[in-house]
Amino acid sequence: MNNVSVSVRDLSLSFGAVTVLDTLNLDIKNGEFLVLLGSSGCGKSTLLNCIAGLLDVTGGQIFIKDKNVTWEEPKDRGIGMVFQSYALYPQMTVERNLSFGLRVAKLPQAEIDKRVARAAEILQIQPLLKRKPSELSGGQRQRVAIGRALVRDVDVFLFDEPLSNLDAKLRSELRVEIKRLHQSLENTMIYVTHDQIEALTLADRIAVMKSGVIQQLADPMTIYNMPENLFVAGFIGSPSMNFFRGEIKDKGGHKVVEVNGVDFGMEAYPARGPLEAGRKVVLGVRPEHVKVDENVSGLEVHDAIVDIEEPMGADNLLWLKLAGQTMSVRIAGSRRYAPGTALKLSFDMAMASVFDAVTENRI
Ligand SMILES: Nc1ncnc2c1ncn2[C@@H]1O[C@H](COP(=O)(O)OP(=O)(O)O)[C@@H](O)[C@H]1O
Ligand SMILES: [Mg+2]
Repeated sequence: MNNVSVSVRDLSLSFGAVTVLDTLNLDIKNGEFLVLLGSSGCGKSTLLNCIAGLLDVTGGQIFIKDKNVTWEEPKDRGIGMVFQSYALYPQMTVERNLSFGLRVAKLPQAEIDKRVARAAEILQIQPLLKRKPSELSGGQRQRVAIGRALVRDVDVFLFDEPLSNLDAKLRSELRVEIKRLHQSLENTMIYVTHDQIEALTLADRIAVMKSGVIQQLADPMTIYNMPENLFVAGFIGSPSMNFFRGEIKDKGGHKVVEVNGVDFGMEAYPARGPLEAGRKVVLGVRPEHVKVDENVSGLEVHDAIVDIEEPMGADNLLWLKLAGQTMSVRIAGSRRYAPGTALKLSFDMAMASVFDAVTENRI
């Protein structure tokens, strides 16, 4: 399979009695930007460190470019790594920091100069080359840290939460730069983050992880619109998808999800199999997949009362009560509703997600 850049096969990793990864499988394509997304402690760094060779695996194998590197030294794996903490040498200039690894590897000076110049150009840090890290801002330091991976001329870049130490503005700026970097270099990139926005904006594919297990591996829009299970559905999206616990019922030949006496017709829902009456389910609808006060023929209408309005400029977020519970609805920022206003909601059931209440898997 020469389209595969990194192949993780039946990987297991335990720290003593604690198993963090258990027979995990993951193939990353050549040139792909793959994001490992999950909350703190789910095993993202452990997986990345196994790929990097910083941890000895307990079982399984790792291939990079068709070569079994499971027991290779990190430096022989053709990878470059960028960490959350920049870990620059404080006494060295930016230029010396960038070239350090190359000098250790005893590359010819001309080659070192060429690579440092290229990395500095790509990252636009030429004016900083003579400075020490203490004379740089956080964003500039992280750019140098990325540069240190870049000069190594590797096939695969590994990033472990590289933006987490930066403030919000810098984070979004550097996020765009990393995306631009990937577009111009076309290296394979594996990027660890707990930030769903970074994952959605950067990734070709996202692997959503929980407790060391990949819950779903797909492109961002599939993850967002067709979550495989309740965990993925709730993890991605802000505010979260609205969830309604209910039961499938047959009402005069029509399948509905009944929630506290309110029926949601399932005709438009792209179900994977038969929807058996009596099945307990969770109906999930994202805030932007609800129409407010729009007369669309054929759509089911539900009465609701505005509880709170959160205008956010471009969007307006309404919090209201339906079927005995609070839900959020996202509408255009220009549309305003005072608390207490009665309005009509219609769910876009074609964009809904329904999960089995027991298995929590999409149905
Ligand atoms: N050296 C270690 N010894 C023991 N447990 C560890 C070690 N490193 C990580 N762990 C545990 O492994 C789990 C996964 O950690 P980690 O991969 O760092 O998570 P993440 O990067 O997703 O936040 C956590 O429960 C963590 O406490
Ligand atoms: Mg981590």
